[in-house]
Formats: sequence, structure tokens, C-alpha cells
Amino acid sequence: MSDFHELIQFIRSEVNRDLKRFPLPESPAYLYNPIRYTFRGSGKRFRPILVHLSGRAFHVDPDSLMKISLATELLHNFTLVHDDIMDHDDLRHGQKAVHKKWDESTAILTGDGLFAIAQILLNNLPERSNNICRFFNEATLEVCEGQALDKEFENDITISVEQYLSMIEKKTGALLGACAALPAILIGRDKDTIDALDQFGRNLGKGFQIHDDLLEIYGDADTMGKSLGSDIYAGKQTLMVIMARENDSRELSEMLNEVNNYSLEVMQNYFTKSGIEKDTKKMARGFFDIARSYLEKIEKIDRSELINFIELVEKRKN
Ligand code: IPE
Ligand code: IPE
Ligand code: MG
Ligand code: MG
Repeated sequence: MSDFHELIQFIRSEVNRDLKRFPLPESPAYLYNPIRYTFRGSGKRFRPILVHLSGRAFHVDPDSLMKISLATELLHNFTLVHDDIMDHDDLRHGQKAVHKKWDESTAILTGDGLFAIAQILLNNLPERSNNICRFFNEATLEVCEGQALDKEFENDITISVEQYLSMIEKKTGALLGACAALPAILIGRDKDTIDALDQFGRNLGKGFQIHDDLLEIYGDADTMGKSLGSDIYAGKQTLMVIMARENDSRELSEMLNEVNNYSLEVMQNYFTKSGIEKDTKKMARGFFDIARSYLEKIEKIDRSELINFIELVEKRKN
């Protein structure tokens, strides 16, 4: 595993280097300064890393992989810049969110610019650029649908686990699915392989998002580099809240009333004692296992690095 960790570190540093030296004009500063600022943030770069690992499994040309991987990270950052406006969160990647460092107009435009740059990167691929762009844009639209459902679900106490799972597959799974599938699309692999990679990424994404909801309650804000606990106050329908409601809605309401003083500790005690923390972890594990099973279906690839990647995501603390 230590060779694998070195590989991850290497890919991450290459991605960070390319972001740092990404050719951006100086003017208008209103647009490019905040874009440069997002490039400097402390993201984990999971999406570009997944593109590289998936591409390595098929021996795809590293230069093209880098273009695709940067496009996915730019898209991810675009969604986060807008997500922080939508979720009223102030901290991202260990620094002020763009709408707090500047203002909402700046943040909206920063997102637009990031998305356009991602498109240009993909337009410049030497082959199958149309296929790549179509898959990428379909995933982007699905992320928007997921974000729409996330907003529609706020404070809606009728939302079921099934609706939650469909929402997170869109807001988080679709992009991870694209990261896994795009390298195979670039080299013209068959539809079954592309579908299996997409499903691998989508299930990885569901496990990832459930884990993220847990970290929102049990994580450490400094390690995470983003605001924590805000989901519950905003009435977000996370898996834990839905499970708690289905268990005993009166007990959940009592806890939520108590939590008005923004106590993460009250929430932690409640979810741990009621067994919901354990059940949530179990559900996340289930999706990571499904992700593994989709990798098993793919023929003629070296899947070991992708399997190690699932474990890395599963064990993350930030
Ligand atoms: C954050 O994703 C948004 C979710 C989908 C939960 P990451 O945890 O991968 O974001 P980075 O690493 O901070 O960029
Ligand atoms: C972010 O989801 C997902 C996207 C931006 C598509 P969340 O709102 O749950 O993630 P955090 O907690 O802000 O990172
Ligand atoms: Mg959100
Ligand atoms: Mg958010």
C-alpha cells in the first residue's frame, strides 16, 4: 500500500503543479483572481486522481489524462463555489469561501469561468473530444439535478432513504462515475466497460457522500477545511436525519430543538447512542462493496490501483 500512497501523492502534486501554473490572463482581475484563488485551495483532488488511476488501468496517454483530470477538478470547484452560496457556508478548502472573500456576484462568475475553462480543456483533446464532452456535460447536468433535489428536500420531513440515495447519486455519484469512465471513452472502449466504470464511480460516490454526511457530524473542521454541522441546522435531509426520523421522530425533534445552540456534541451523542452512526457506516460500506463488484466485471484491465483507491476513500478523515 505504501507504493500506492506514493503514487497518489505523486499524482496529487502533478495536478497541483499544473493548477498552479495554469495559464490565466491577469485581466479582468474580477474574474481571474478568484479563479486563481480556488486553484490554491487545499482540495484532496480525488476526482483528478480517479481519472489518472482509471486511465492507468487502460494505459491511456498521460497528457490527455491530465487534461481530463483538470477538467473534472475545475467542474468540481465550480460546483463547490456555487454550493457554498446555496448552503450559506463560509469556509472551503481551508480558506474563506469565494462569496465570503469577495461577494456573491464574484462567486457566481467564478463558477461560470471555471466551467468554461473545463470545457475548453476537453475541446482540446486530440481524439473523441465530442464523446468526452457529451458524457461530461450529461454528468454536469445530473450534478445540477442533484443539487436541485438537495435544495427541494430541505426541511421536507417526508423524504425517504430511497429519495436521499437518488439525490446523492446525482449530486456526487455522477461526477465520480464520469471520472472513472472518461479515460475508457477516450480510447474508444466498449459500452459494457464504460457502463461498469460509470457504475463503479457512482457507487463509490454514494459511499463517499454518506461518509461525508458522517464527517459533517463527527469530523474535525480544521482537518476538513470546511464548515461542519451546517447540514442539520439548514434542515438538510442527510441519511442520519432520515434514519433517525424513521426510528423515532419525536426523539429526533427533541434533539433538534436542543441543537438550536449549535452543539455538535449533542448530535454526536444522539446518533451514536441510537445506533444510527453504526447503521450509516454499514450502509456506506455496502456501496463501497458494490463499487468493488463493478470493477470485477471489467475484463482486461489491471484493477489493483482502483481497488486501493476505494480503500483510500473509505478510510478518509478529511
Ligand atoms: C466535497 O467533495 C463535496 C462532496 C461531494 C461531498 P470533496 O471532499 O472531494 O472535496 P475536496 O477534496 O474538499 O475538494
Ligand atoms: C456538495 O454537497 C456536492 C456538490 C457540490 C455537487 P454538500 O453540500 O453536501 O457538500 P459540502 O459539505 O458542502 O462539501
Ligand atoms: Mg450542498
Ligand atoms: Mg455544501
